[in-house]
Amino acid sequence: MAMLSSRRILSTVAHHQGLAALSARASSTWSHVEMGAPDPILGVTEAFKRDNNSKKMNLGVGAYRDDSGKPFVLSSVRKAEAQIAAKKLDKEYLPIGGLADFNKACAALALGDNSEVIKSGRYITVQTISGTGSLRVGANFLQRFYKSSREVYLPKPSWGNHTPIFRDAGLEIKSYRYYDPKTCGFDAAGALEDISKTPEQAIILFHACAHNPTGVDPKPDQWKELAAIIKQRNLFPFFDMAYQGFASGDADRDAWALRYFIDQGINLVLSQSYAKNMGLYGERVGGFTVVCSDSDEAKRVESQLKILIRPMYSNPPLNGARIAATIMNTAELRTEWLEEVKGMANRIISMREQLVSNLKKEGSIHNWQHIIDQIGMFCYTGLKPEQVERLTKEFSIYMTKDGRISVAGITSANVGYLAHGIHKVSK
Ligand SMILES: Cc1ncc(COP(=O)(O)O)c(C=O)c1O
Repeated sequence: MAMLSSRRILSTVAHHQGLAALSARASSTWSHVEMGAPDPILGVTEAFKRDNNSKKMNLGVGAYRDDSGKPFVLSSVRKAEAQIAAKKLDKEYLPIGGLADFNKACAALALGDNSEVIKSGRYITVQTISGTGSLRVGANFLQRFYKSSREVYLPKPSWGNHTPIFRDAGLEIKSYRYYDPKTCGFDAAGALEDISKTPEQAIILFHACAHNPTGVDPKPDQWKELAAIIKQRNLFPFFDMAYQGFASGDADRDAWALRYFIDQGINLVLSQSYAKNMGLYGERVGGFTVVCSDSDEAKRVESQLKILIRPMYSNPPLNGARIAATIMNTAELRTEWLEEVKGMANRIISMREQLVSNLKKEGSIHNWQHIIDQIGMFCYTGLKPEQVERLTKEFSIYMTKDGRISVAGITSANVGYLAHGIHKVSK
């Protein structure tokens, strides 16, 4: 009896404590905050980490790996770091717009050494927190000063972060056709038709090269047609160049479309990232450029960019910009870096070819030519979500549900295993 009543007392206490916890939660400041969806790409990495299969492959994350599957720090980066360390420089704040030596070199890398825009000083480049920070500064700048339109047209599909970046900056997201699942290639007719139907002066986002996630870029003639429509309809292009050098192995070639648009007299804006082409992922090095009609306009734009950036993050980080500037502004390091970019691009191109030849060896009767034709770090395999699920379950091969693989995650040692898995789920 005494036992029972003490049990009852205990359970009553627990009940009260439970109620108290519940009511505390209900009345807490953040009780209305719902659990957000995890990032789809980071979710793939988490699942990969939990897998004990020794053959497991992570093809989700867009970071370059060497042929032994390891993160790769460029030799030119190591050398630049050593040169910087030897100088025992201070760690003072950078100006709001970043490191001047970096900004100059950054613009020249994109626009070309002989660019008329650079010679006439009718541009402004500010250092940003990698490509993402650049896109966000750009989006906020357009939101504040581009009065002609509130609409940004993104290619369908586009990098997943484009939508929240522009939406959080207060712009409206629209899309234009880009990828044709039937050909696993560029839907030129669809893109041209959609872009020609947007309201005049709308903002159109282009991936300058190595489109993410599809690996599909317009050909030069198609870029020319796109530029003609942009000009004719007074649309405003925003170029996102996160992979300069990574597509073809040649930084100038990868900037061709961007430079062509500028040569047509189109005053665009541009985001650049050094995450991929210098392997400076965590250093967060990037640039945002506005091409203006004259140097006076560029100065006014610069002043407003500073006013925009100052309350966001005050000024950008120093270390990565020093590394990138040292590499771009030191002749031997620059040459070595451009060779290393070519090496990374070539390894990716070779993995594409090896994957296709291994699929043929497996006996696959499908046409996998698009794997070779697509360009840059990513490949849109065309695999269906059920096939992706089987690859993960049965072969411990991880990728995003849309069938995108990071080709940089494939090595000579595991390309055969990947081809085997793809063949098994697609035959
Ligand atoms: C198309 C595109 N734009 C921008 C970025 C920005 O990357 P980060 O902020 O690491 O420079 C990425 C990275 O994956 C990308 O794929």
